[in-house]
Amino acid sequence: MEVVILAAGKGTRMNSSTPKVLHTIGGKPMLAHAIEAAIELDSNLIHVVVGFGADKIERYCETNMADAPLNFVIQAEQLGTGHAVQRVIPSLTSIEDNNIVLILYGDVPLIQADTLEQLLNKASANSVAVLTGFTQDPTGLGRIIRDEDGELIAIVEEKDACDEQRGIKEFNTGIMALPAGKLSSWLEKLGNDNEQSEYYLTDVIEAAVRDGCAVNSLVLKDEIEAQGVNDKMQLALLERYYQNRIVGYMLKSGVTLRDPNRVDVRGEIAFGSDVEIDINVIFEGTVRLGNKVRIDANVIIKDSIISDGVHILAGSNIDGAEISSGCKIGPSARLRPGTKLGKDVKIGNFVETKNASFGDGSKANHLAYIGDAIIGRKVNIGAGTIFCNYDGANKHKSTLGDNVFVGSNSVLIAPVNLGDNSFVAAGSAINVDVNKEQLAVSRAKQRNIDGWGRPKKR
Ligand code: UD1
Ligand code: CA
Repeated sequence: MEVVILAAGKGTRMNSSTPKVLHTIGGKPMLAHAIEAAIELDSNLIHVVVGFGADKIERYCETNMADAPLNFVIQAEQLGTGHAVQRVIPSLTSIEDNNIVLILYGDVPLIQADTLEQLLNKASANSVAVLTGFTQDPTGLGRIIRDEDGELIAIVEEKDACDEQRGIKEFNTGIMALPAGKLSSWLEKLGNDNEQSEYYLTDVIEAAVRDGCAVNSLVLKDEIEAQGVNDKMQLALLERYYQNRIVGYMLKSGVTLRDPNRVDVRGEIAFGSDVEIDINVIFEGTVRLGNKVRIDANVIIKDSIISDGVHILAGSNIDGAEISSGCKIGPSARLRPGTKLGKDVKIGNFVETKNASFGDGSKANHLAYIGDAIIGRKVNIGAGTIFCNYDGANKHKSTLGDNVFVGSNSVLIAPVNLGDNSFVAAGSAINVDVNKEQLAVSRAKQRNIDGWGRPKKR
């Protein structure tokens, strides 16, 4: 079995410079969803027909789906779906009829592998299978024509249909499975004598009937699965539908969601038991949540591992972080890539961390920047502490031992090392290493002046 995914169209109605199939559902391009369904089916090769924005599409797949068995076929001019499939014929590994070709669309992202499996079971060397659906408003779609015995005998495009045919509610999803050899000969004979002067893939159905090839159909239970995206309204609709599917799964698995309509998963999420998620939370990339994780309102978490019992308070932004059990983050904390927190670490409000590791039980409770640092256990970083890691040209590292205390409003000018149990007095600028147990004070000595008179208003 081989898959062909049609993705050459521009998608004019998207009003965007991005090729249509690269617009995302759940944080992933629509085309990637179709490719993943194809991969689930164990297809030998997945041919992707590209035209508009071909280079962007190929680059995306090379970067993000390098392991997928993809073959890109260029269709320079979009002369119709039949013409697009015809471009692929020379690349098929076999044009024997026992090789089944499954046609998918790059702009139909919600299609499920098990539906396609059922469709494939209805196709063989001597039969084709068409996925159809019923809808109250089939405007713009091809209509399914059946004879008096209910056999599928043709598909008529809306623009070519007579009034009676337009009244038919059964539509062509566009997804079909066909034997390779017959498909190839039917495509050779396609004409474009129709309202749109296009080579219609749908015309192969009449050719199949003429050749005595059986035409089977599978009717979708929920036509949203084959809903295509032509504009931003449809993109938004399918996004909601997709999100509902994920939150439904999360709820069923025991996650508490304060409002399932206000959680978005744009990537992959894994979770343990007794997880609680408040409103307006967004997950991006790959996120793993342990047991008893609590996430308060307005939090964004991307590509991070959050261990058991972690509490993330409102308004925090977490990207590329590994957080061990028992940590408390936020409110309004920002953890950037390379942040690694040991157990029971506290990162409070308006604290930013980047490329920084914290030993167990350390704290930075308020207003600090901690970048390029290795911090030991039970360290206390006072309010207003800044790690000066950048000299305008290069980044430098700071190392703090265990049980270090950094007084408020200090700057640590990297590279600098503070030994175990050392203590930095508040308001210090530290650019010389401090040995263990030492107190470092680096600020102007305070003078109190007697008999000083305040300026008076003239
Ligand atoms: C097609 C079907 C129609 C079906 C509808 C479902 C035909 C003739 N019609 O309609 O019966 O109800 O899909 O959405 O097949 N594409 C190419 N190259 C082309 C033309 C299209 O790659 O030359 C791609 C598009 O990028 C898109 C897909 O094929 O992903 C469908 O094209 P579109 O123009 O949206 O389909 P219709 O012809 O309207
Ligand atoms: Ca379409």
